Amino acid sequence: MSKRLTIDIERSMAVTIGDRGLTQEMLDGLTPRLEEARGAVLRAAGTGMLGFTELPFADISSLVTYAQEVRDNYDAVVVIGIGGSALGIITLATALLPFYYNELPSAPCLSSQQKGTTPQPQSTSRLSPRLYVLDNVDPDETAALLDHLDLKHTLFNVISKSGSTGESMASYLLVRERLEAQLGSAEATKHFVFTTDPEKGALRSIGKALGIPMFDIPPGVGGRFSVLSSVGLLPAALTGIDVSALLAGAAHMATWTKESMAWDNPAAIFAGLQYLHYTVFNRRLSVMMPYSARLRDVADWYRQLWAESLGKAVDRNGRTINTGPTPVKSLGVTDQHSQLQLYAEGPDDKVITFLGVDKFENQLTIQKPSAEAESLSYLSGHTLNELLWAEQKGTAWALAKGGRPSITITLPQVDAYHLGSLLYMLEMATAISGELYNIDAFNQPGVELSKQATYALMGRPGYEDLDAEIGL
Ligand code: PA5
Repeated sequence: MSKRLTIDIERSMAVTIGDRGLTQEMLDGLTPRLEEARGAVLRAAGTGMLGFTELPFADISSLVTYAQEVRDNYDAVVVIGIGGSALGIITLATALLPFYYNELPSAPCLSSQQKGTTPQPQSTSRLSPRLYVLDNVDPDETAALLDHLDLKHTLFNVISKSGSTGESMASYLLVRERLEAQLGSAEATKHFVFTTDPEKGALRSIGKALGIPMFDIPPGVGGRFSVLSSVGLLPAALTGIDVSALLAGAAHMATWTKESMAWDNPAAIFAGLQYLHYTVFNRRLSVMMPYSARLRDVADWYRQLWAESLGKAVDRNGRTINTGPTPVKSLGVTDQHSQLQLYAEGPDDKVITFLGVDKFENQLTIQKPSAEAESLSYLSGHTLNELLWAEQKGTAWALAKGGRPSITITLPQVDAYHLGSLLYMLEMATAISGELYNIDAFNQPGVELSKQATYALMGRPGYEDLDAEIGL
């Protein structure tokens, strides 16, 4: 537990990759601004404005108690949410639940003495409900999920910060109708738990009127920064993920990033390097490439965090800048056979972040091939772990040889503690980046117009003019 994640920047530096690498002077030149940016974030932390910085220290006992009390009553939990209200739990589940979790047989019921303790996910059986996330409004997918579920034994966790997002509300209304048709109105109500703003929004009003259990999303926590709030933690706790360890890892990172100056601070290092590659060398793409199937959805989560936070039309002075690196998700080794050719020889417009892991749960040794396959004997006796490590190391080296930069973040192992640490670090890096670009990293005005257009096309009162304009 004591080992912490590391960040290696050697393959971003000119001494390693040549002319289009960063120099010590560039790093030194950025230091005052990076420190200023870090200081601005720290000053805002704890004021309620940067709610995500307070989450690692929050009291989550009521959420944990609720999860312990109800999880044995259900065979499935369905999260209804979108964007920041869905990507967090998807990331946590992929990283921390056993592979093929939903397909595992459920374990015999916990004995009464064990009830109330946190079940540890096992790789051979399931101690908690299956988990599904409905984060789209595709009619075929939704119909298939509702047909597949045993509604009588399913709990729906509707998550929406605003409490009014059209897609999530539409799914809620559909599910509610299905449940009512099957179980009756009073019983249907018992199959919901809401996660939303403490005061505002339609979801809060519905929950109040019907007496549905509700968990708050603190007002200063935006969707894409909400994974360590009730948004990610409630469904995680319902599936037996160790949510306290997640917060402990995040708290460790919060202290580290608070107390360490620029280049000793992983969040500042990540933000600073990405910023220098963007501004000095015009590298507009930020690829995240985990070499761990468990971390594959961290790249998806990062894609939203980075894109919605940093893609902005204007800076804080109102000047048009249309800035923002484009985050790209990739997976090692799979995408070595899909994307690597482009990364190596295409435009030099990317910085790759490798996510590596020191220790896997399993160690699988490759057997000796038969005589006819002598050419494969170089693999024999090695482990898959060694192969994966060699692929990551080899790819970083080959890219560097061609002058292409990378950053490597390594986790000692994938567990709740280190994942909490990593997610918090990336959130803090995003906040620091917002300061470097001098933009508001916490709004998303660019998605408003499309939302309004949808309202108009769906006939929402008040949007008639827009409807006419789109129709033209
Ligand atoms: O990061 C964000 O703020 C967004 O991606 C939201 O999470 C997303 O739009 C869903 O919003 P809400 O949680 O209000 O339903």
